[in-house]
Amino acid sequence: MKRLDGKSALVTGSARGIGRGFAEAYIAEGATVAIADVNIAAARATARELGDAAYAMQMDVTDQGSIDAAIAAVVDHAGKLDILINNAALFDAAETVDITRASFDRLYAVNVAGTLFTMQAAARQMIAQGHGGKIINMASQAGRRGEPLVLVYCSTKAAVISMTQSAGLNLIKHGINVNAIAPGVVDGDHWDHVDSMFAKLEGKAPGQKKAEVAAGVPAGRFAVPADLTGMAVFLASPDSDYVVSQTYNVDGGQWMS
Ligand SMILES: NC(=O)c1ccc[n+]([C@@H]2O[C@H](COP(=O)([O-])OP(=O)(O)OC[C@H]3O[C@@H](n4cnc5c(N)ncnc54)[C@H](O)[C@@H]3O)[C@@H](O)[C@H]2O)c1
Repeated sequence: MKRLDGKSALVTGSARGIGRGFAEAYIAEGATVAIADVNIAAARATARELGDAAYAMQMDVTDQGSIDAAIAAVVDHAGKLDILINNAALFDAAETVDITRASFDRLYAVNVAGTLFTMQAAARQMIAQGHGGKIINMASQAGRRGEPLVLVYCSTKAAVISMTQSAGLNLIKHGINVNAIAPGVVDGDHWDHVDSMFAKLEGKAPGQKKAEVAAGVPAGRFAVPADLTGMAVFLASPDSDYVVSQTYNVDGGQWMS
């Protein structure tokens, strides 16, 4: 018996990176997983690679129609929705005096409104089904404290931690557990993008920021997506039925709370 046998999961932003790692782990534990991403070509390629238990769908978490269509497509494909991971997010960095409204609006639309309204649509479906569910939001160590060049992203992740607390308290009466994971630094496209932004903003050589950050991680290295999957499986399984509104640091010791 696997821990997620027969479960139906939706993972936003799972065409690559951490979301893809979550999808792979959930499939290994017996779940069917919707690979939902704004990049449908990449989602299709990932679903093909992950096998029959994965299926791709285009989803833009900034668009309510797209959110509703994604939930309906999951129910159509798998008959129900048991698990949502709100994983899609964008990053940006700038001096405080250079932050643009366009950047602020884009990051809040994906990281905050996207998380909230996907969570809401999933919760409505889970309540209608009548047997609870699991919602996991992707926070970050960036949501635990500020960073001089990362005001907008850090504040979106602080909002994710706060929304997880309130939604968790509100939805547990329906048997829906809402919790979050706060990673530290995870290798992949996201951090390659972060490194290139810091190269410009701080005048560093490509790869330099990454090497400096890795040296400061108590565990001595960046994470890979597989470092986060144990927590994601736990939070989707019955083992977490009594865990409500929490944000777990999975960050090699970078933040303690
Ligand atoms: N990589 C890290 O170091 C790190 C650290 C802490 C937290 N996180 C968080 O973990 C999550 C995954 O990070 P990652 O490193 O895999 O990122 P990533 O950039 O590699 O992947 C994000 C995915 O989201 C998709 N996406 C973007 N906008 C979307 C939208 N509007 N609708 C649907 N999909 C959309 C992208 O196409 C992409 O496939 C994010 O929430 C991120 O903030 C990452």
